[in-house]
Amino acid sequence: MFLLPLPSERTSLNAHLRSAGAPDALRHLILDISRAAKYISYAIKTTETGLSGGTNQSGEKQLQLDVLSDTIVSHYLAESGLVASYASEEAEELIIFSDNAPYTVVFDPLDGSSLVEANFAIGSIFGIYEGLDCLGKTPREQVAALYVIYGPRTLLVYSCGKGVHSFILNDVGEFILYQEYHGIADTAKNYSPGNLRALADNPAYDSVLHDWLKRELTLRYSGCMVADIHHIIAKGQGIFTNVGGSKYPQGKLRLVFECGPFAYLVEQAGGASSNGNVSILDVPIENIHQRTPVIIGSAHEVAAVTKALR
Ligand code: AHG
Ligand code: MN
Ligand code: MN
Repeated sequence: MFLLPLPSERTSLNAHLRSAGAPDALRHLILDISRAAKYISYAIKTTETGLSGGTNQSGEKQLQLDVLSDTIVSHYLAESGLVASYASEEAEELIIFSDNAPYTVVFDPLDGSSLVEANFAIGSIFGIYEGLDCLGKTPREQVAALYVIYGPRTLLVYSCGKGVHSFILNDVGEFILYQEYHGIADTAKNYSPGNLRALADNPAYDSVLHDWLKRELTLRYSGCMVADIHHIIAKGQGIFTNVGGSKYPQGKLRLVFECGPFAYLVEQAGGASSNGNVSILDVPIENIHQRTPVIIGSAHEVAAVTKALR
């Protein structure tokens, strides 16, 4: 028989945040985000996978689930009373709640949403900044980042600057400790190449891909950044890229909602990130929807790919 561990025998997300020394307000905010994620997890199982009829700021068609997930997160952020403003992939502008709350939250409420129809793993991504806004800052100024992956298991992975830790959603709806101190080795055995349509007019990216093929690295690419980077964090090695070509000159992914939080988590786990020149953590935020090329994962592979793309 598989018995649920008693509350005293497992570490909850709340207990872990306390032991990591997260300030109380940050701890409460992360717990409120985790409550939103439980609703999103339920919504994924029960909501129509069809289009909402709307488009987001990047001109992409929104699914009902994108809109619903955005509404759920917005609701919990408002309820927390801890959020001055937020920036969402699904909202054109920064949304302002209050000018005397401590944090700004940036998020992609549902990443990889087009894959839900195929029952692939998808996720939600969050970055947390102190203050009223994230414009003019860099992702290095995040005080915490987390993502939730909705796969065969629902996992939450966070860092508040003291390592990267994962939690599993149990049957009574609590996130309990799954693994502490995830690490990423310097060399990669797996590769995860995004925006491959860029190969047609980016010969350097083509040569990077051929190098991986020649070295017989193993391909692990699902089309959901959360799942693909979670693979790197779970396996402790790997390289993920999404770089530019003529269709998407800066690649497909956004600095604020996608690359920034992952750069924080991957660098906390001992990996590296780059936009081709500098760490993603040092790219200034000029526009909440700006895209950026991203090369992220095992440090030696990030350095080699960055060099090859120059
Ligand atoms: P979203 O569902 O939030 O629009 O994001 C999808 C993104 C990301 O998850 C993934 O890495 C990328 O799109 C896949 O792009 P390719 O077309 O380059 O594979
Ligand atoms: Mn996304
Ligand atoms: Mn999204």
